[in-house]
Amino acid sequence: METRGCGVRHVCAVTVLLVSVCPPCTASWMWLGVTSAGVLEKLGCTDLPLSHRQQELCRRKSFLLPSIQDGARLAVAECQSQFRQERWNCSTREGPAVFGYESTSGEGTESSTVGQNGPEGTKETAFIYAVMAAGLVHAVTRSCSHGNMTECGCDARLQGGGSAAEGWHWGGCSDHVQYGTWFSRRFIDNGAKNVSATRGGYTLTSMNQHNSEVGRQAIHGTMSTDCRCHGISGSCAVKTCWKTMAAFERVGAYLKERYERSLQVSDRSRRKTRRKDQRRLPVDKQQLIFFNKSPNYCLEDRRRGIAGTRGRRCNRTSSGSDGCNLLCCGRGYNTHLVRHVQRCECKFVWCCYVRCRRCESMNDMHTCK
Ligand SMILES: *[C@@H]1O[C@H](CO)[C@@H](O)[C@H](O)[C@H]1NC(C)=O
Ligand SMILES: *[C@@H]1O[C@H](CO)[C@@H](O)[C@H](O)[C@H]1NC(C)=O
Ligand SMILES: *[C@@H]1O[C@H](CO)[C@@H](O)[C@H](O)[C@H]1NC(C)=O
Ligand SMILES: *[C@@H]1O[C@H](CO)[C@@H](O)[C@H](O)[C@H]1NC(C)=O
Repeated sequence: METRGCGVRHVCAVTVLLVSVCPPCTASWMWLGVTSAGVLEKLGCTDLPLSHRQQELCRRKSFLLPSIQDGARLAVAECQSQFRQERWNCSTREGPAVFGYESTSGEGTESSTVGQNGPEGTKETAFIYAVMAAGLVHAVTRSCSHGNMTECGCDARLQGGGSAAEGWHWGGCSDHVQYGTWFSRRFIDNGAKNVSATRGGYTLTSMNQHNSEVGRQAIHGTMSTDCRCHGISGSCAVKTCWKTMAAFERVGAYLKERYERSLQVSDRSRRKTRRKDQRRLPVDKQQLIFFNKSPNYCLEDRRRGIAGTRGRRCNRTSSGSDGCNLLCCGRGYNTHLVRHVQRCECKFVWCCYVRCRRCESMNDMHTCK
């Protein structure tokens, strides 16, 4: 077993795991979103679960490695936040199939086969690809704006422009998303050609690529202009404005909306099973697409990496997806009494501290059966 460069036992274990599990599976860069920062420093580009093309890009742009990880983490956290109240809650594991079966195949391959572990290519997969690609653009761009890079910086094209008549000009640092977008395409689409659907429909690769692009476009689409006033005592005689990316939560919410309205398309490799209502024509750039209907995510299915909703906390009075009825799939729920201890009745005591009492309260907590 290859153990070169393993300084720490944990790192060795991870390397060994990845080496022994992959191939034949396709490891994924998304793994960087669930692993600790220390691991990254121990493993070089070669030992990371990247495709050959990604490793090559990683070596050439090794200064971007921290941003790649930042982006992956940002995306994983945002996915979990957007789906915290849903049956599928975007939970991750430390294996190569970071999100379970939703992301196990299609990456780094040109094939359009649907894996044997079940129907990948659901709308959850679509969201994952979009949010991960967007996370990468966001993190790389932030790093550019921070002045941490020699290859990119603020958007210089705007400097000096503006409208004197309207009393504003471009100034400060406008986020330059082009570099991050370029990198995200290069890194995730894996050098695949700019594929679009042919009349026969999509392949798994072209579908994933389309959804990644939806994520990148979400960064562009949620950018805004911020301005600051100057002038005597806030008179705002002159304004300096700059373009800025939205906070990533905004991008996540935008993509969640796209997820709700995602569109089923036909899988070119399964022509025979294509149904009439499936779209064959290319869909527009803002639309997330998927091949397969999602499972209901109710029951645990280890083989497919579905956790099920048993034990999930639910809200008895909510009629939304976090309500016990929907979240527990009608199985019912258990009620536990939990004790909350809080600081309360805090008083400022001269001088200088705050004294509080400990207050206890008993609350009902419901979890799915
Ligand atoms: C998702 O739900 C499972 C239980 O089904 C739970 O173990 C896990 O911690 C949850 N993950 C997140 C990110 O909330
Ligand atoms: C920029 O570099 C500094 C110092 O190396 C680091 O602390 C900071 O987190 C970096 N910022 C970004 C956005 O990468
Ligand atoms: C693919 O090509 C089209 C037009 O040729 C272009 O508008 C689009 O931005 C390209 N997409 C990618 C991911 O490069
Ligand atoms: C439960 O749902 C109700 C109705 O949607 C909401 O008002 C309440 O804040 C929720 N409770 C918790 C603990 O989230």
